[in-house]
Amino acid sequence: MAVENRMDKIVALAKRRGFIFQSSEIYGGQNGFWDYGPLGVELKRNVRQAWWSDMIIEHDEISAPPGAPSSFDMVGVETSIIMHPQVWKVSGHFDLFCDMMVDCRECKARFRQDHVPTSQCPLKPSKAPGEHDKCQLTAPREFNLMFKTTLGALGTEEDAAFLRPETAQGMFVNFKNICDSSRVKIPFGVAQIGKSFRNEITPRNFTFRSREFEQMEMEFFCHPSQSLAWYQYWRDRRYNWYITHGISKSNLILREHAKEELAHYSVGTADLEYAFPFLEPGSYGELEGVAHRGDFDLRSHSEGKLCKKDGELVVELGADGKPRHPGSGKDLSYFDDQSRERYVPHVIEPAAGCDRATLAFLCEAYHEDQQPDEKGVMQERLVLRLHPRLAPIKVAVFPLIKKDGMPEKAMEIYGELKAAGLSVQYDQQAAIGRRYRRQDEIGTPYCLTIDGDTAKDGCVTIRDRDTLQQERIPVSKVVDEIQTRLKG
Ligand code: GAP
Repeated sequence: MAVENRMDKIVALAKRRGFIFQSSEIYGGQNGFWDYGPLGVELKRNVRQAWWSDMIIEHDEISAPPGAPSSFDMVGVETSIIMHPQVWKVSGHFDLFCDMMVDCRECKARFRQDHVPTSQCPLKPSKAPGEHDKCQLTAPREFNLMFKTTLGALGTEEDAAFLRPETAQGMFVNFKNICDSSRVKIPFGVAQIGKSFRNEITPRNFTFRSREFEQMEMEFFCHPSQSLAWYQYWRDRRYNWYITHGISKSNLILREHAKEELAHYSVGTADLEYAFPFLEPGSYGELEGVAHRGDFDLRSHSEGKLCKKDGELVVELGADGKPRHPGSGKDLSYFDDQSRERYVPHVIEPAAGCDRATLAFLCEAYHEDQQPDEKGVMQERLVLRLHPRLAPIKVAVFPLIKKDGMPEKAMEIYGELKAAGLSVQYDQQAAIGRRYRRQDEIGTPYCLTIDGDTAKDGCVTIRDRDTLQQERIPVSKVVDEIQTRLKG
């Protein structure tokens, strides 16, 4: 399938079946903002849940790297979107979180400089910015991506605040609170899922680059001598998480950043990149970054914003010789009561985008094939091969026909499945083949059909979305069977 064609079809399906809508669509839409519909919200909730489970609930089922303690703590937090403005000065976002942009004086459009070759000028016929005779592009200038707001009624510059551009800082500034209030010992991780905001100059590619999005970030605090081993550990573990949840190895790469690409704080970063269908074959887009942040964040929030001087991180000084952006002055070191050592922990940060992961799972799942209908005639089929754990609906229940007690039996089974905590749909409209196809399109892994024999043999037919195999199973075992298959 052609690159654009496949992506267009995924976007169309997402709208038609209620996964993702353009925000404020009835008013013409709001560029860079998206709404999740009834199925999208379930899919995204399952993505979040799968991440949270792997990070917090099942975190110690996989062994730690050699030389590191074999068990470790993982805790969660939920911190505020608007934080003290000093947080962003000390973190570097106030000074450095910028993209280069160019404006067109003629059509007033604005473009990210590195996107100019692949953007379109609003003038007709469509061309890249700068290619029309009338285009008057300005010289590139810096544009800070943080959304600014004002707190309180006065609205003066002193009341300025920012919507967070990442969830990470909420975890760094709570490091001491977490150490003091819970019994965590290094190494330990703090995880958070929440909204972040970036005033992207050119939001594009469906939800991939949005202005409001959700991040799933984890800060792993460890001893400096073990930080490289943990960095490898989290890179590999995060790669495997995507594979376990259905991304194929041929579509996912782990790319180590070159030195010049590293963020100001980073000692090493690897990106997990996915072959999104809106990209040319052989190109990949960032899904997640795993960064070795060293002691940059804790030291900055303690001493003041750091900068690199002669290869060393030192407090950046203003013209008056004082820290340009002072830190909190709080001691953010850690005391190990076994080794009696005091040190500033190093941090490994796997930072994933929940919307990008959801989009990647949707793209990976999208398949078209041909299957015979009830009369044996081959029909086009659209199927989302979502991992059962991520599928918005786990099982659909159909009475074959709307009489002879079948709807009543089907409703009874539907009720039992719901009571067991499963997301279920009941459908009695249209031919059975059409009902199967409706479920295939939204990725439902299992369908149960109650037919004329059910009243006699106490069995229903279970049909598997991927193998298309149909089996008879006893009604009394339906809940167990679905749960076992979902776990498998
Ligand atoms: N704390 C580090 C950090 O925020 P990042 O690479 O800027 O790192 C992490 O962001 C992840 O957040 C990205 O890998 C991506 O999945 C997601 N993300 C970043 N900007 C985004 C945007 N404009 N729209 C959607 N997701 C975005």
